[in-house]
Amino acid sequence: MASLSFQGPGKFLGAYVPPGDKSISHRAILFGALAEGESSYENFLEAEDCLHTLEAMRQMGVGIWHEKGTGKVRILGKGLRKLSAPGRELYLGNSGTSMRLLLGILAGQRFEAVLGGDPSLSARPMRRVTDPLKQMGAQIKGKENGNFAPLTIRGGKLRGIDFDNKLSSAQVKSALLFAGMYAEGRTIVRETIPSRDHTERFLEATGARFQKVDHHLIIEQTEMLLPIRARVPGDISSAAFFIVGAAMIPGSEVTVQDVGLNPTRTGLLEVLKRMGAEIETCVTQTIPEPVGNIRIHGARLKGTGITYQEIPSLIDELPVLMVAMALAEGESLISGAAELRVKETDRIRSMVQNLKVLGASIEELPDGSLIRGVDGFHGATVESFGDHRTAMSMGVASLAAKGTITVKDTACIATSYPTFMDHFRFLSKD
Ligand code: S3P
Repeated sequence: MASLSFQGPGKFLGAYVPPGDKSISHRAILFGALAEGESSYENFLEAEDCLHTLEAMRQMGVGIWHEKGTGKVRILGKGLRKLSAPGRELYLGNSGTSMRLLLGILAGQRFEAVLGGDPSLSARPMRRVTDPLKQMGAQIKGKENGNFAPLTIRGGKLRGIDFDNKLSSAQVKSALLFAGMYAEGRTIVRETIPSRDHTERFLEATGARFQKVDHHLIIEQTEMLLPIRARVPGDISSAAFFIVGAAMIPGSEVTVQDVGLNPTRTGLLEVLKRMGAEIETCVTQTIPEPVGNIRIHGARLKGTGITYQEIPSLIDELPVLMVAMALAEGESLISGAAELRVKETDRIRSMVQNLKVLGASIEELPDGSLIRGVDGFHGATVESFGDHRTAMSMGVASLAAKGTITVKDTACIATSYPTFMDHFRFLSKD
């Protein structure tokens, strides 16, 4: 099993462009496949998760041209209702986004498909999506009443539902908005605490019968979608490793260029500022997605609290934020983050366990953690738990370590950020 060693202590210095956004890259393929005509994208994220979405669409007859290493994809859309039945299981690896969003699309097709994944994905809860899709009229079978993959779905005639997205899950919301394009009547998704809104932006840009009224998302049966040509913004969730690393180490200075600054994704920046980080942003593009640059100067940070209202805007950044909190002066408290327990691994447990091994003072709570800052970490060997974000967060922790941090089982990094080590080496200075 591959492992990586990070020699501490260190800091980050320099300017860099992060890879394309994972959430937007998935949606680029899905909307491109369902549009009529050719969509084309630059800076598509060539990571395993997004490639699984791409392959799944190819298996359903969509022509996709992708030259590896260029970030360029061209998708010859088949239209909303002309996908073909896949000849075998759609294997989605580690990717929860692929599985949940595809379920929404497949609910509207007139064939049967089987969706499977690796052991981590097969252990992640799916009833949050399969229950409302069944209510709309889809037939879905899987272990524990459709909660666990492999899942067999037969789409058909759907009817709209009125759904309260209590988990503030963008994956659940997106699946239902996809299905809503096939359903008779209106599908309404209510959301009190907003989750990432990339799907809504795609629906608007492709001409779906969609509207947003206050916190309600309303979608109606849609005949056709228009193709799009665009550049995928840089992924703030990938840049987060370098943003947090720079913010927590005095003497660091990093500029992140061409990165997505969608306000439903930038909670990390607000929390770091509250912790005393020096961060400046400038927006260079606003439509269809805000994009710009972020400049970070390192400082000794101070502890803060994060509660449930903020969680959806920084859900994927919490592991690396826990590293910064473990080094911040005073106490930090994360609450309302139980969703972290059902990510690629239980990220509360993985991070608490690893940070303890490094000498942090941290306590596991059912929905978060209580952290008292220490001055630095010591070298040690830690586990990735098969989770890309836990693995990369441990690499960032090495900036504050007296010694080497070895992270075991790091192949998982390729699911979201295959160039992470290149960027780490490029920005890291002794
Ligand atoms: C994603 C939504 C989030 C996030 C995941 C990507 C998306 O998951 O954690 O990495 O692209 O819609 P949830 O919707 O389950 O919160």
